[in-house]
Formats: sequence, structure tokens, C-alpha cells
Amino acid sequence: MNDKKRKILVTSALPYANGPIHLGHMVEYLQTDIWVRFQKLNGNDCKYVCASDAHGTPIMLKARELGITPEDLTQKISADFICDFSEFGVEFDNYYTTHSIENEELVSEIFSNLQKSDEIYTKKIEQSYDEKEGMFLPDRFVRGTCPRCKTEDQPGDACEICGTTNTPETLINPISVLSKTTPTKRKSEHYFFRLSAHKKRIQEWMRSATLDKNITSKLNEWFDAGLNDWDISRDEPYFGFKIPGTKNKYFYVWLDAPIGYMASFKNLCNKDKSIDFNEYWNADSTTELYHFIGKDIMYFHMLFWPAVLKGAGFRAPSSIFAHGFLTVNGKKMSKSRGTFIKARTYLDNLNPEYLRYYYAAKLGSSIEDLDLNLEDFAARVNSDLVGKLINIASRCAGFINKEFQNKLSSSLPDLDLFSKFSDSSDEISQYFESREYSKAIRKIMLLADLANRYIDTNKPWVLIKDEENKIKVQEICTQGLNMFRSLIIYLSPVNPMIAKKSKEFFNEKNWQWSDASTPLLNKELAKFSPLLTRVDHKQVNSLIDKSNDI
Ligand code: MSP
Ligand code: ZN
Repeated sequence: MNDKKRKILVTSALPYANGPIHLGHMVEYLQTDIWVRFQKLNGNDCKYVCASDAHGTPIMLKARELGITPEDLTQKISADFICDFSEFGVEFDNYYTTHSIENEELVSEIFSNLQKSDEIYTKKIEQSYDEKEGMFLPDRFVRGTCPRCKTEDQPGDACEICGTTNTPETLINPISVLSKTTPTKRKSEHYFFRLSAHKKRIQEWMRSATLDKNITSKLNEWFDAGLNDWDISRDEPYFGFKIPGTKNKYFYVWLDAPIGYMASFKNLCNKDKSIDFNEYWNADSTTELYHFIGKDIMYFHMLFWPAVLKGAGFRAPSSIFAHGFLTVNGKKMSKSRGTFIKARTYLDNLNPEYLRYYYAAKLGSSIEDLDLNLEDFAARVNSDLVGKLINIASRCAGFINKEFQNKLSSSLPDLDLFSKFSDSSDEISQYFESREYSKAIRKIMLLADLANRYIDTNKPWVLIKDEENKIKVQEICTQGLNMFRSLIIYLSPVNPMIAKKSKEFFNEKNWQWSDASTPLLNKELAKFSPLLTRVDHKQVNSLIDKSNDI
């Protein structure tokens, strides 16, 4: 590990504030939170910011449907997001909204920089228009029959059955989803960003960003297909920021959303004057910047975003980490199957630490999808997390509490065995750093097996029957608890709530990664209370039942 304290800014994608957070979203926020906690545990200066994505047509329409303003809608939904995230232990340094003054200022600064460097031009284009509603229609708001496979009622961007890329124009019998009328065509002037001119720069960035090979091949596919200039404007009615100098044009939500990363950070800097915005965002910044995103939004982040940043004179991300999609019991999450599980429904039924553990046990650094199999979920948590790891503490703590006035012995009886735990520090650390969490968990569980075998062999519950062996029992339990302590420190980015309780049991204030390598001796512990109970199948069934209700 590098001795110098790294300065790192981390983001997760900004969730759309028009629907609840579900367990699919949670893959990302938990993956990011684990990484950030790991960095902080190592003493790095790591900031984690996020925000609600508040703009765009769907949010405007949803608010209209509910008879409230989009501001009210997104504020209300953001408040729910904040509760969900916090109960799952996702700890942001700042959570904000894209509908903010900081964002509006940054968007206009970036736009004007792009204009100055001739990255923006205007052009009249023809688009689908809903005469009854009086608005232009985003592609997904036009539905019709797929020209290729002839399936009816397909969206105007891509066919859900055969995958063909469509446009509202290529659909047979197109219909506006808003008024159910046939859209007409209207012309309007739009602002375009010269993405096509950025090919070389993006390719240079790509090489410096050390991306996963699946991502690189996806990017190469896009380069081969050719980069089109990007329409960054929308006509009214729209919920977003007005384009300066226009009467009725707005910035497209996907321009201001990533700028929302900067704006949330700016808001943090406004609150904490010791953080310098420019140090993180200037073109010559030496800090690290990482975006965690899902594979569905790679185009925006890997092509538009670095190009916009560079074009406007800012730094580009150090790297972008994309993850796959969550399936439940092997299938896409679906409301009708009862597998569209809201974060809130999960929290009402199960301990968040279970899910944090399960996701970590399955997550790697690739964009492969990951499956939440509810049986496997209960089995893994019960046999590994509770049965192997937590059990080490339960098997030793009682003796220390009851027989030795809570006091650990002054030496470890098996230093060689303990060194297997301390020597694993770098390996596990490397797994976390490279987002190979499943490998970190596997290593931790192998060590837990060793600890359990040690207790099995030494049988403190037999030795304690003989007064002569008492000191031996104290030593064995001190060894057991120290092995447990090292493993919980390694696991603490994944399971912060269990780690907190364990830290209290060990009577310690703060833990750092390196503490796992030094045994705790001669110390008076607090009274032990159970750290985690097993997953109850009734709770899992109730989770599915409740998800069926929606
Ligand atoms: N608002 C945009 C992101 C703007 S970032 C400048 C958006 N929002 S979202 O709410 O649809 O998704 C937020 C994140 O959650 C995205 O990274 C997305 O990939 C991720 N996920 C949404 N559903 C998911 C699954 N089912 N599985 C895994 N991740 C998922 O996109
Ligand atoms: Zn089709």
C-alpha cells in the first residue's frame, strides 16, 4: 500500500428521483460504499458524493400526473432515498440534487467554455411531436410495431423482443404514449456538441484510465460504428435548466446530470472550507476521480463525459468502474414475479448487513450480471457469515466474560497461526482495491475456517472443567478472539454495523486496516452481546409476499 495519503473523489450514478430505490440500484451504492469505506479505513482522504437526478421528461410528467411541481416530487423522493441509503449503511460525504444553484452555474460555465472553444453548433432537426399535448416526444414516448420482427407496442428506441435499434420514424403505426394520437413531425433548432471531433482524445483517455477489457471492447465497437455529434438541448415543456440566451430551450438532462457530480462536490466544498474544488477538478489535478456506474449508462460516462470535461478545460475521470445488472432468482427483476424488490421492503423485513455481505460475496470487477438467489442468499449468510465468522466470537467470548473478568491474556499461544491472519492483509487489501470483493470474502472465510479448526482442536469447553487448565483457556480464547478481530477489521468495509458492535466489544475507539495485523492483548473487553442472528426463512418469504403486493 502507498504510504502517501491519496486524495480520492468517488461518485455513484445519480438515481432518477421519480421512483423508489430497489435492490438493483443497491448493487451500485453498496459496491461504491464498500470501496469508499475501504479507502477511509486505510487512512486515505476519500470523499463520496452523490445526488438525485431531478430533471427530464419522465419526472416532469410524473409530477404532472400527481398534480405537484417537479421540485416537490423530487424533494419528497430524495428524502426517501436518503433514508433508504442511510439504513443500508451507505455513507455519503454529500448527497444533493441536480436541481441546484451550484449545478446551474457549473452547467452554464461548461456550456460557455464549450461554445468558446467551438465545440457547440446549432442545427434544425425534425422530431416527433404530439399535437394534442403540445410537446416533442422523446423516443421512448413513441410506441409502435417493430419493422423487423413485427411485434406490436415496441418503444421508439430499441425493440424489446428482437433488439433492433429503432427510431420513432422506423416504427410501423407509431403512437404517442401520452395522448394515444399519431405523432406529427416538427422542426426545431437544437444545440449539438461535437463529439465526433473527440475520438482521439477519448481514445487517449481510455488508455490512461485502465478500463476492464469488456468495457474497452464495448468502446471500440462504438468507435467503429462512428461517433455522432450529441444533441444537448430540448424544447419546452421540459424540467431542467434553461439554455442561457434562449427563450424556450433547455439543457438535456444527460448534460446536467454528470455535471451534478461536480455540483454535489461543490456544495460539499461550500460547507467544508478545507476542501478545494479546483484542486479536484482543474485540468492539471493530481487527485483521483472515480465514477461507479451500471453498464447501461456507459455511453454517457465513457464517451460524452470525458469529452465534455476535456472540452471545457476540466480534468477527466481517473477511471470509470461499471458493474452488471441484478437479476433475482435468475431472471430480470419483475413486478409480476414479485421480484421487483424495493429497498424499503427489504429493510422492513431483513437486516441490511445480510445483503451487504451477499452482494460483496458475489461482486467482482467485471460488468457481468449478478444474481440474487434468495435461497442461496439465506444459505450463504447463515453458513458463512453467521455460522463461520460470527461464531468464532460467540465460541470464545463467553469464557472471557464469565471466567476471566472480561480480560484477554497477555500473549498469544499460537503466533504462527495468528501470522497467517496478519500476513493476509496485503492480499485482501489488493482485492478490495481492485473491486474483487468476492475474492476478499473467500479469503476471509478460508481464514475463518482455520480459526474454527483451532477452537475445535483445543476444545476450551472441555479444558475449563479442570481448574489447572484455566490459564490455557484464557489464552485459547484470546487467540480465537484476536483471529476474529482481524477478520472483522478486514470485513468492516462490507459489514460496518457488525464491525461497530465488535469494536465496542473489544473496547476500542477506532480501527484502521493495519490494526488487523497487531493482536490485542491484556485488554479488558465489554460484555459480549450477539452480533448477528441467522436469516429466518419466514423473513425471506415475507419479503417476497410484500413485493408481490405492489
Ligand atoms: N439518472 C441516471 C444516472 C445519471 S449519472 C450522471 C440513471 N438513474 S437510474 O436511477 O436509472 O440508475 C442509477 C444507477 O443504478 C445506474 O448506474 C444504473 O445502472 C443502476 N441500476 C439500475 N437498475 C439496476 C439493476 N437492476 N442492477 C444493477 N444496477 C442497476 O441511470
Ligand atoms: Zn423487433
